[in-house]
Amino acid sequence: MKVHKLEELWLIIGVVIIGLAIAITGYQAFAKEMAPPSHIETIDPMKVSETPPFNKPGLKKIGDNEYEAVMTLEAFKFEPQKLEVPKGAKVTFKLTSKDVVHGINIPNTNVNTMVVPGHIQTITQTFKKSDRFIMICNEYCGTGHDTMSMQIVVKE
Ligand code: CUA
Repeated sequence: MKVHKLEELWLIIGVVIIGLAIAITGYQAFAKEMAPPSHIETIDPMKVSETPPFNKPGLKKIGDNEYEAVMTLEAFKFEPQKLEVPKGAKVTFKLTSKDVVHGINIPNTNVNTMVVPGHIQTITQTFKKSDRFIMICNEYCGTGHDTMSMQIVVKE
C-alpha cells in the first residue's frame, strides 16, 4: 500500500493529538484526582427524605442577606415549589435528586447544572434586582419533564 506523504503526516498529527488528550485527561483524573464538583458530597438517593438537611427542604438564613436553599428534585417536581428572597440576596442552592438525573436552569442567570442522584450539588447566585424567576428542569427526565419547574420571587 502506498500512502501519500501528506496523508501520513496528518495521520501522525491526528494520533499525537488523541494521545495527548488521553494523557492530559488521564493525568488530571488519576494524578491530580480531578472530578466533577458534584462528586464531592454524596448521599444515599433512597434515603433523601430522611437525610438532613434534605428532610426539611426550604430556605435558611446563613448570613447577612445570605441564604441556603435546600431543594430536592424528583419526577416531576421541585421541593419547595416556591422561594421568596429579598433583593440582593446571595443564595446557595443545595440540591439532590430522589430518583433520576435532573438538571436546573434559571433563565437569564448563570445557574445551570445537573443534579445527579447520589450526589449533592451546590450552586450560588446573587439576585440583584427584584424580579420573578422560574427554575426549570433542563435534563430530560420523563414524560412530565416539560412541567417540572418552580418559582423564585425576589422582593424589593
Ligand atoms: Cu426533571 Cu426533566
